Amino acid sequence: MLNDDDVFHLARLALTKDEADVRLFLAKQVRKLRRDDPESATRLEGLLKSQSSRSTGILRDAFPHDPSDRRSNLDSTPSLLKHYDNDQPLQAPIWEGEVLQMLGQSISERHFIDELSRCGLLPTRSLIFEGPPGVGKTMSAKWLAKKLALPLYALDLSAVMSSYLGKTGSNLRSVFDFAKSHPCVLLLDEVDAIAKRRADDADVGELKRLVTVMLQELDDWPADGLLIAATNHGSLVDPALWRRFEMVVAFKAPSAEMVRESICRYMGPDFDNMRHWAGLLEYLMVGKSHSDIERVVMQLRRLKVIAPLQFEDLAANLLIRDVDDIKKSERINAATYLVSTLGFSQHQANKMTGVSRDTIRKKIA
Ligand SMILES: Nc1ncnc2c1ncn2[C@@H]1O[C@H](COP(=O)(O)OP(=O)(O)OP(=O)(O)O)[C@@H](O)[C@H]1O
Ligand SMILES: [Mg+2]
Repeated sequence: MLNDDDVFHLARLALTKDEADVRLFLAKQVRKLRRDDPESATRLEGLLKSQSSRSTGILRDAFPHDPSDRRSNLDSTPSLLKHYDNDQPLQAPIWEGEVLQMLGQSISERHFIDELSRCGLLPTRSLIFEGPPGVGKTMSAKWLAKKLALPLYALDLSAVMSSYLGKTGSNLRSVFDFAKSHPCVLLLDEVDAIAKRRADDADVGELKRLVTVMLQELDDWPADGLLIAATNHGSLVDPALWRRFEMVVAFKAPSAEMVRESICRYMGPDFDNMRHWAGLLEYLMVGKSHSDIERVVMQLRRLKVIAPLQFEDLAANLLIRDVDDIKKSERINAATYLVSTLGFSQHQANKMTGVSRDTIRKKIA
Protein backbone atom coordinates (compact mmCIF):
# COMPACT_ATOMS: atom_id res chain seq x y z
CA MET A 1 0.00 0.00 0.00
CA LEU A 2 0.99 3.67 -0.29
CA ASN A 3 3.11 4.89 2.59
CA ASP A 4 3.04 8.47 3.92
CA ASP A 5 5.81 9.62 1.59
CA ASP A 6 3.99 8.18 -1.40
CA VAL A 7 0.77 9.94 -0.44
CA PHE A 8 2.62 13.23 0.01
CA HIS A 9 4.35 12.82 -3.35
CA LEU A 10 1.09 12.00 -5.08
CA ALA A 11 -0.65 14.98 -3.50
CA ARG A 12 2.14 17.29 -4.63
CA LEU A 13 1.97 16.01 -8.21
CA ALA A 14 -1.80 16.27 -8.24
CA LEU A 15 -1.67 19.83 -6.97
CA THR A 16 0.77 20.89 -9.69
CA LYS A 17 -1.73 19.36 -12.13
CA ASP A 18 1.00 17.63 -14.08
CA GLU A 19 -1.05 14.75 -15.34
CA ALA A 20 1.81 12.96 -17.06
CA ASP A 21 3.79 12.81 -13.81
CA VAL A 22 0.76 11.63 -11.83
CA ARG A 23 0.24 8.84 -14.37
CA LEU A 24 3.89 7.83 -14.23
CA PHE A 25 3.79 7.71 -10.46
CA LEU A 26 0.58 5.64 -10.42
CA ALA A 27 1.97 3.22 -13.00
CA LYS A 28 4.94 2.67 -10.70
CA GLN A 29 2.55 1.98 -7.82
CA VAL A 30 0.70 -0.57 -9.96
CA ARG A 31 3.96 -2.46 -10.50
CA LYS A 32 4.75 -2.33 -6.77
CA LEU A 33 1.25 -3.41 -5.74
CA ARG A 34 1.21 -6.40 -8.09
CA ARG A 35 3.48 -8.23 -5.67
CA ASP A 36 1.84 -7.27 -2.37
CA ASP A 37 -1.77 -6.51 -3.23
CA PRO A 38 -2.74 -7.79 -6.71
CA GLU A 39 -6.37 -6.80 -6.27
CA SER A 40 -5.57 -3.12 -5.62
CA ALA A 41 -3.05 -3.22 -8.48
CA THR A 42 -5.78 -4.36 -10.89
CA ARG A 43 -8.20 -1.70 -9.62
CA LEU A 44 -5.64 1.08 -9.98
CA GLU A 45 -4.58 -0.13 -13.39
CA GLY A 46 -8.23 -0.22 -14.48
CA LEU A 47 -8.67 3.33 -13.29
CA LEU A 48 -5.63 4.51 -15.24
CA LYS A 49 -6.83 2.81 -18.40
CA SER A 50 -10.41 3.98 -18.12
CA GLN A 51 -9.34 7.62 -17.73
CA SER A 52 -7.49 8.08 -20.99
CA SER A 53 -5.24 11.13 -20.82
CA ARG A 54 -6.83 12.56 -23.96
CA SER A 55 -10.32 12.30 -22.54
CA THR A 56 -9.48 14.94 -19.96
CA GLY A 57 -9.18 17.53 -22.75
CA ILE A 58 -6.30 19.82 -23.49
CA LEU A 59 -7.81 22.79 -21.83
CA ARG A 60 -8.84 21.18 -18.61
CA ASP A 61 -6.35 23.39 -16.83
CA ALA A 62 -7.56 26.48 -18.63
CA PHE A 63 -11.07 25.94 -17.24
CA PRO A 64 -10.73 26.14 -13.50
CA HIS A 65 -13.90 25.60 -11.52
CA ASP A 66 -13.78 29.15 -10.28
CA PRO A 67 -13.95 31.41 -13.35
CA SER A 68 -12.34 34.28 -11.48
CA ASP A 69 -9.27 32.06 -11.11
CA ARG A 70 -9.01 31.50 -14.85
CA ARG A 71 -6.02 33.69 -15.47
CA SER A 72 -3.88 32.49 -12.58
CA ASN A 73 -4.55 28.96 -13.63
CA LEU A 74 -3.43 29.61 -17.18
CA ASP A 75 -0.27 31.17 -15.88
CA SER A 76 0.63 28.31 -13.64
CA THR A 77 -0.24 25.37 -15.86
CA PRO A 78 1.22 24.36 -19.14
CA SER A 79 -1.52 23.96 -21.71
CA LEU A 80 -1.81 24.39 -25.43
CA LEU A 81 -2.74 28.01 -24.94
CA LYS A 82 0.13 30.26 -24.04
CA HIS A 83 -0.83 33.35 -22.10
CA TYR A 84 1.27 36.49 -22.65
CA ASP A 85 1.40 39.03 -19.91
CA ASN A 86 0.27 42.41 -21.16
CA ASP A 87 2.17 44.24 -18.45
CA GLN A 88 5.56 43.23 -19.81
CA PRO A 89 7.41 46.14 -21.45
CA LEU A 90 7.31 45.93 -25.24
CA GLN A 91 8.63 48.37 -27.82
CA ALA A 92 6.35 49.23 -30.70
CA PRO A 93 7.14 47.08 -33.74
CA ILE A 94 8.60 48.89 -36.75
CA TRP A 95 5.76 49.02 -39.26
CA GLU A 96 5.70 50.55 -42.70
CA GLY A 97 3.50 50.83 -45.77
CA GLU A 98 0.42 48.67 -45.86
CA VAL A 99 1.16 47.01 -42.51
CA LEU A 100 1.33 50.37 -40.80
CA GLN A 101 -1.84 51.55 -42.45
CA MET A 102 -3.87 48.40 -41.80
CA LEU A 103 -2.80 47.73 -38.23
CA GLY A 104 -3.13 51.42 -37.43
CA GLN A 105 -6.68 51.25 -38.71
CA SER A 106 -7.56 48.13 -36.76
CA ILE A 107 -6.43 49.84 -33.53
CA SER A 108 -8.29 53.06 -34.38
CA GLU A 109 -11.49 51.17 -35.14
CA ARG A 110 -11.62 50.02 -31.53
CA HIS A 111 -11.72 53.63 -30.44
CA PHE A 112 -14.66 54.28 -32.73
CA ILE A 113 -16.90 51.38 -31.70
CA ASP A 114 -19.93 53.59 -31.05
CA GLU A 115 -19.57 55.55 -34.29
CA LEU A 116 -19.14 52.30 -36.23
CA SER A 117 -22.14 50.75 -34.57
CA ARG A 118 -24.30 53.78 -35.39
CA CYS A 119 -23.48 53.02 -39.02
CA GLY A 120 -24.31 49.35 -38.50
CA LEU A 121 -20.63 48.33 -38.59
CA LEU A 122 -18.39 46.25 -36.36
CA PRO A 123 -14.65 46.73 -35.93
CA THR A 124 -12.35 44.27 -37.72
CA ARG A 125 -12.55 41.02 -35.77
CA SER A 126 -10.14 38.75 -37.59
CA LEU A 127 -6.81 39.28 -39.28
CA ILE A 128 -4.37 36.97 -40.98
CA PHE A 129 -0.67 37.84 -40.92
CA GLU A 130 1.38 36.42 -43.72
CA GLY A 131 5.12 36.77 -44.23
CA PRO A 132 8.63 35.40 -43.81
CA PRO A 133 10.11 34.60 -40.39
CA GLY A 134 11.32 37.36 -38.08
CA VAL A 135 9.46 40.32 -39.58
CA GLY A 136 7.16 40.99 -36.64
CA LYS A 137 4.01 38.89 -36.95
CA THR A 138 4.07 37.60 -33.38
CA MET A 139 5.44 40.89 -32.08
CA SER A 140 2.60 42.78 -33.78
CA ALA A 141 -0.01 40.47 -32.24
CA LYS A 142 1.50 41.20 -28.82
CA TRP A 143 1.53 44.91 -29.58
CA LEU A 144 -2.12 44.95 -30.69
CA ALA A 145 -3.13 43.13 -27.50
CA LYS A 146 -1.19 45.65 -25.47
CA LYS A 147 -2.65 48.65 -27.28
CA LEU A 148 -6.17 47.25 -26.91
CA ALA A 149 -5.52 46.28 -23.27
CA LEU A 150 -6.66 42.73 -23.94
CA PRO A 151 -5.06 39.51 -22.76
CA LEU A 152 -3.23 37.61 -25.49
CA TYR A 153 -3.43 33.84 -25.85
CA ALA A 154 -1.38 32.07 -28.47
CA LEU A 155 -2.11 28.65 -29.85
CA ASP A 156 0.61 26.96 -31.86
CA LEU A 157 -1.37 24.90 -34.32
CA SER A 158 1.58 22.81 -35.40
CA ALA A 159 2.02 21.66 -31.79
CA VAL A 160 -1.70 20.89 -31.48
CA MET A 161 -1.66 18.93 -34.69
CA SER A 162 1.35 16.86 -33.89
CA SER A 163 0.29 15.87 -30.41
CA TYR A 164 -3.45 15.45 -30.55
CA LEU A 165 -4.54 14.27 -33.94
CA GLY A 166 -7.76 12.40 -33.41
CA LYS A 167 -9.06 14.98 -30.98
CA THR A 168 -7.88 18.19 -32.61
CA GLY A 169 -11.39 19.25 -33.65
CA SER A 170 -12.81 19.14 -30.14
CA ASN A 171 -9.61 20.49 -28.62
CA LEU A 172 -9.70 23.42 -30.99
CA ARG A 173 -13.32 24.05 -30.10
CA SER A 174 -12.42 24.12 -26.42
CA VAL A 175 -9.73 26.68 -27.15
CA PHE A 176 -12.25 28.86 -28.97
CA ASP A 177 -14.90 28.39 -26.26
CA PHE A 178 -12.41 29.59 -23.72
CA ALA A 179 -11.23 32.53 -25.84
CA LYS A 180 -14.79 33.59 -26.63
CA SER A 181 -15.76 33.57 -22.96
CA HIS A 182 -14.04 36.94 -22.38
CA PRO A 183 -12.58 39.73 -24.56
CA CYS A 184 -9.09 38.76 -25.67
CA VAL A 185 -6.71 38.46 -28.59
CA LEU A 186 -6.31 34.89 -29.78
CA LEU A 187 -3.27 34.23 -31.95
CA LEU A 188 -3.36 31.08 -34.05
CA ASP A 189 0.27 30.63 -34.97
CA GLU A 190 1.36 28.47 -37.90
CA VAL A 191 -2.15 28.23 -39.24
CA ASP A 192 -0.73 26.49 -42.33
CA ALA A 193 0.05 23.46 -40.14
CA ILE A 194 -3.32 22.01 -41.13
CA ALA A 195 -2.38 22.12 -44.79
CA LYS A 196 1.06 20.68 -44.14
CA ARG A 197 -0.48 17.85 -42.24
CA ARG A 198 -2.79 17.19 -45.15
CA ALA A 199 0.24 16.72 -47.37
CA ASP A 200 1.51 14.05 -44.96
CA ASP A 201 -0.31 10.95 -43.97
CA ALA A 202 -3.14 12.39 -41.98
CA ASP A 203 -6.71 11.27 -41.69
CA VAL A 204 -8.52 13.38 -44.28
CA GLY A 205 -11.82 13.27 -42.38
CA GLU A 206 -10.16 14.63 -39.27
CA LEU A 207 -8.61 17.50 -41.22
CA LYS A 208 -11.91 18.38 -42.86
CA ARG A 209 -13.52 18.48 -39.43
CA LEU A 210 -10.75 20.74 -38.26
CA VAL A 211 -11.20 23.19 -41.12
CA THR A 212 -14.96 23.12 -40.49
CA VAL A 213 -14.43 23.99 -36.83
CA MET A 214 -12.16 26.85 -37.83
CA LEU A 215 -14.66 28.18 -40.36
CA GLN A 216 -17.52 28.10 -37.88
CA GLU A 217 -15.46 29.64 -35.13
CA LEU A 218 -14.29 32.43 -37.41
CA ASP A 219 -17.89 33.25 -38.27
CA ASP A 220 -18.83 33.17 -34.59
CA TRP A 221 -15.92 35.20 -33.33
CA PRO A 222 -17.18 38.06 -31.08
CA ALA A 223 -16.55 41.69 -31.98
CA ASP A 224 -15.05 42.50 -28.58
CA GLY A 225 -12.14 40.15 -29.25
CA LEU A 226 -9.52 39.95 -31.96
CA LEU A 227 -8.59 36.78 -33.77
CA ILE A 228 -5.21 36.78 -35.47
CA ALA A 229 -3.80 33.94 -37.54
CA ALA A 230 -0.17 33.91 -38.62
CA THR A 231 1.60 31.97 -41.32
CA ASN A 232 4.86 31.89 -43.25
CA HIS A 233 3.09 30.16 -46.12
CA GLY A 234 -0.13 31.92 -47.03
CA SER A 235 -0.55 29.84 -50.16
CA LEU A 236 -0.90 26.70 -48.06
CA VAL A 237 -3.85 27.99 -46.06
CA ASP A 238 -7.22 26.60 -47.08
CA PRO A 239 -8.84 29.17 -49.42
CA ALA A 240 -12.20 28.93 -47.63
CA LEU A 241 -10.44 29.73 -44.37
CA TRP A 242 -8.38 32.52 -45.93
CA ARG A 243 -11.53 34.20 -47.24
CA ARG A 244 -13.06 34.32 -43.76
CA PHE A 245 -10.41 36.68 -42.40
CA GLU A 246 -11.56 40.28 -42.59
CA MET A 247 -8.08 41.71 -43.00
CA VAL A 248 -5.07 40.19 -44.74
CA VAL A 249 -1.80 41.77 -43.63
CA ALA A 250 1.26 40.93 -45.72
CA PHE A 251 4.48 41.40 -43.77
CA LYS A 252 7.65 41.84 -45.79
CA ALA A 253 11.36 42.17 -45.15
CA PRO A 254 12.04 45.79 -44.16
CA SER A 255 12.77 48.45 -46.80
CA ALA A 256 16.18 50.15 -46.80
CA GLU A 257 14.79 52.96 -44.67
CA MET A 258 13.36 50.56 -42.10
CA VAL A 259 16.59 48.53 -42.08
CA ARG A 260 18.26 51.77 -40.97
CA GLU A 261 15.64 52.32 -38.29
CA SER A 262 15.99 48.75 -37.07
CA ILE A 263 19.79 49.05 -36.84
CA CYS A 264 19.40 52.29 -34.92
CA ARG A 265 16.82 50.76 -32.57
CA TYR A 266 18.90 47.69 -31.79
CA MET A 267 22.17 49.64 -31.41
CA GLY A 268 20.30 51.51 -28.68
CA PRO A 269 22.65 53.37 -26.32
CA ASP A 270 25.68 52.21 -28.37
CA PHE A 271 24.48 53.99 -31.47
CA ASP A 272 26.70 57.03 -31.00
CA ASN A 273 29.94 55.10 -30.68
CA MET A 274 29.00 52.52 -33.31
CA ARG A 275 27.31 54.75 -35.85
CA HIS A 276 30.15 54.32 -38.36
CA TRP A 277 29.21 50.65 -38.57
CA ALA A 278 25.60 51.41 -39.29
CA GLY A 279 26.30 52.28 -42.92
CA LEU A 280 28.01 48.95 -43.59
CA LEU A 281 25.22 47.12 -41.83
CA GLU A 282 22.66 48.87 -44.01
CA TYR A 283 24.29 47.48 -47.16
CA LEU A 284 24.63 44.01 -45.71
CA MET A 285 21.20 43.73 -44.16
CA VAL A 286 19.12 44.57 -47.21
CA GLY A 287 16.53 41.84 -47.64
CA LYS A 288 17.11 40.46 -44.14
CA SER A 289 14.48 40.38 -41.40
CA HIS A 290 14.31 42.59 -38.32
CA SER A 291 15.19 39.60 -36.20
CA ASP A 292 18.34 38.98 -38.34
CA ILE A 293 19.28 42.62 -37.85
CA GLU A 294 18.66 42.41 -34.13
CA ARG A 295 20.82 39.29 -33.85
CA VAL A 296 23.79 40.76 -35.73
CA VAL A 297 23.64 44.11 -33.95
CA MET A 298 23.47 42.48 -30.53
CA GLN A 299 26.45 40.32 -31.44
CA LEU A 300 28.42 43.42 -32.45
CA ARG A 301 27.56 45.19 -29.22
CA ARG A 302 28.72 42.23 -27.18
CA LEU A 303 31.90 42.01 -29.24
CA LYS A 304 32.67 45.64 -28.49
CA VAL A 305 32.50 44.92 -24.77
CA ILE A 306 34.56 41.75 -24.72
CA ALA A 307 37.19 42.66 -27.35
CA PRO A 308 37.39 46.47 -27.55
CA LEU A 309 40.91 46.48 -29.03
CA GLN A 310 40.32 44.09 -31.90
CA PHE A 311 36.73 45.20 -32.35
CA GLU A 312 37.08 46.84 -35.77
CA ASP A 313 38.70 43.81 -37.41
CA LEU A 314 36.49 41.26 -35.70
CA ALA A 315 33.37 43.26 -36.51
CA ALA A 316 34.28 43.53 -40.19
CA ASN A 317 34.93 39.80 -40.37
CA LEU A 318 31.70 39.02 -38.58
CA LEU A 319 29.65 41.19 -40.92
CA ILE A 320 31.28 40.10 -44.13
CA ARG A 321 31.11 36.41 -43.22
CA ASP A 322 28.04 35.67 -45.31
CA VAL A 323 29.13 37.89 -48.16
CA ASP A 324 28.23 35.29 -50.77
CA ASP A 325 24.54 35.74 -49.93
CA ILE A 326 24.70 39.44 -50.70
CA LYS A 327 23.79 40.96 -54.06
CA LYS A 328 26.77 42.13 -56.10
CA SER A 329 25.78 45.80 -55.97
CA GLU A 330 25.50 45.71 -52.15
CA ARG A 331 28.82 43.92 -51.97
CA ILE A 332 30.49 46.68 -53.96
CA ASN A 333 28.89 49.31 -51.70
CA ALA A 334 30.12 47.40 -48.64
CA ALA A 335 33.67 47.17 -50.03
CA THR A 336 33.72 50.88 -50.78
CA TYR A 337 32.36 51.66 -47.31
CA LEU A 338 35.04 49.53 -45.68
CA VAL A 339 37.72 51.60 -47.42
CA SER A 340 36.31 55.11 -47.44
CA THR A 341 34.49 55.20 -44.11
CA LEU A 342 36.04 52.53 -41.96
CA GLY A 343 39.63 53.03 -43.10
CA PHE A 344 40.41 49.51 -44.32
CA SER A 345 42.92 49.17 -47.16
CA GLN A 346 41.69 48.27 -50.64
CA HIS A 347 43.59 45.01 -50.28
CA GLN A 348 41.75 44.15 -47.02
CA ALA A 349 38.39 45.14 -48.47
CA ASN A 350 39.06 42.94 -51.51
CA LYS A 351 39.96 39.99 -49.27
CA MET A 352 36.83 40.43 -47.19
CA THR A 353 34.30 41.03 -49.92
CA GLY A 354 35.79 39.50 -53.04
CA VAL A 355 35.26 42.81 -54.87
CA SER A 356 38.30 43.61 -57.03
CA ARG A 357 40.56 46.49 -56.02
CA ASP A 358 40.00 47.94 -59.43
CA THR A 359 36.26 48.12 -58.89
CA ILE A 360 36.72 49.60 -55.42
CA ARG A 361 39.14 52.21 -56.79
CA LYS A 362 36.76 53.18 -59.61
CA LYS A 363 33.80 53.40 -57.26
CA ILE A 364 35.65 55.62 -54.81
CA ALA A 365 36.87 57.87 -57.60
N1 LIG B 1 8.74 44.89 -37.19
C1 LIG B 1 9.64 44.71 -36.21
N2 LIG B 1 10.06 45.77 -35.49
C2 LIG B 1 10.98 45.62 -34.52
N3 LIG B 1 11.51 44.43 -34.17
C3 LIG B 1 11.11 43.34 -34.83
C4 LIG B 1 10.16 43.44 -35.89
N4 LIG B 1 9.96 42.20 -36.38
C5 LIG B 1 10.73 41.37 -35.67
N5 LIG B 1 11.42 42.05 -34.71
C6 LIG B 1 12.37 41.46 -33.74
O1 LIG B 1 12.49 40.08 -34.07
C7 LIG B 1 11.90 39.27 -33.04
C8 LIG B 1 11.13 38.12 -33.66
O2 LIG B 1 10.02 38.63 -34.36
P1 LIG B 1 8.61 37.87 -34.46
O3 LIG B 1 8.60 36.73 -33.50
O4 LIG B 1 7.53 38.86 -34.34
O5 LIG B 1 8.72 37.30 -35.93
P2 LIG B 1 7.59 36.49 -36.75
O6 LIG B 1 7.27 37.31 -37.95
O7 LIG B 1 6.48 36.12 -35.85
O8 LIG B 1 8.44 35.23 -37.21
P3 LIG B 1 7.97 33.69 -37.37
O9 LIG B 1 7.31 33.58 -38.72
O10 LIG B 1 9.27 32.94 -37.33
O11 LIG B 1 7.06 33.35 -36.24
C9 LIG B 1 11.02 40.22 -32.25
O12 LIG B 1 10.87 39.78 -30.92
C10 LIG B 1 11.78 41.52 -32.34
O13 LIG B 1 12.83 41.55 -31.40
MG1 LIG C 1 5.83 34.30 -35.04
